[in-house]
Amino acid sequence: MKTKKRLGILTSGGDCPGLNTAIRAVVSHATLTHDWEVVGIPYATTGLLEGKTVPLSMHGLDLHGIDPLLCIGGTILGSINKGDTLARINEILAGYQALELDALIGIGGDGSLAILKELQSKGDWQFIAIPKTIDHDVALTERVVGFDTAVNTIVDALNRLTFTAASHDRVMIVEVMGRTAGHLALQAGIAGGADIILIPEIPYSIQEICQHLAELRDRNWRRFAIIVVAEGIRIAEDSTLQPACEQPTCGMGQYIADEIRRCSTYPIDVRVSVLGHIQRGGIPSASDRLIATAFGKAAVDLVVSGHTSLMVSWQNGRVVPVSLDLVLAKSPLLVDPNSFLVETARCLGIYVGK
Ligand code: F6P
Repeated sequence: MKTKKRLGILTSGGDCPGLNTAIRAVVSHATLTHDWEVVGIPYATTGLLEGKTVPLSMHGLDLHGIDPLLCIGGTILGSINKGDTLARINEILAGYQALELDALIGIGGDGSLAILKELQSKGDWQFIAIPKTIDHDVALTERVVGFDTAVNTIVDALNRLTFTAASHDRVMIVEVMGRTAGHLALQAGIAGGADIILIPEIPYSIQEICQHLAELRDRNWRRFAIIVVAEGIRIAEDSTLQPACEQPTCGMGQYIADEIRRCSTYPIDVRVSVLGHIQRGGIPSASDRLIATAFGKAAVDLVVSGHTSLMVSWQNGRVVPVSLDLVLAKSPLLVDPNSFLVETARCLGIYVGK
């Protein structure tokens, strides 16, 4: 017999730093302030399908008062970012019913939130979303859980790679995540002192890249270069090569390296580093912890006050609710080629494409 209102929480899609911090905030606020019971749903909709829950409380672990959830990466609930979720919709709805949940908080990116929204309307769930993604492609929010830590991870890699590139007069290509949106590459590239940033939203030319590299060298600015490549960039219009396998997200750093070797007018030493899932790991930054905590608190308040089908969103330094339908209609959020940040990069002499 249930004695308290029961709130479910799940994490869905690719993991990122800050998910556990958000779970912690939800559990703390819901249990201590509102006296709700909170249960974790393992592996997103798989947990609903299988009718599984994990009890979550603020005093579940005896770690001498230390709370690891604040600062460990990944998600203690597990996650899925593929699956036949919508094909098994009726089983998921039945699973949700059986768990006797009064409401659900889902932490996810645009793909997961679209699936959860579909389930919410079919099952008439009380559902509130918290946006997370290292790609920063969820619309209608200025900040999301996970992006800041990933940017810091890339900037740290760029710092390290700059020294070794400089020591050997090399062109260092750093491939970062971002299948459709180039926010990670653009922001980390600017903050990490890149010479060239290639993102999916802006076309570029191999010829112009080679000219830019030659100019850096001929004008004696520097004899090495750092190129940040988002994994989802398209093949250049003036390309003579194809990537080693099918697009999207297939060795685009290596492809740019091969093209540079081909078109350079002087002997050039190029190396490629693919950062891969390193970008998804790590201890959440202070900023991600703050966002996750504020989002978790706000999501619980929306649940307790009876709202549904909303996403918590960061706008002008505050957390406000926005309609999940509106968010999904406007996602994915891409880099605006005319944005202030693109202009800033260009004004610093960074080649960002045409
Ligand atoms: O959507 C987030 C993301 O990190 C993308 O940038 C990346 O292409 C993808 O996840 C990788 O997903 P997986 O974990 O399935 O390899």
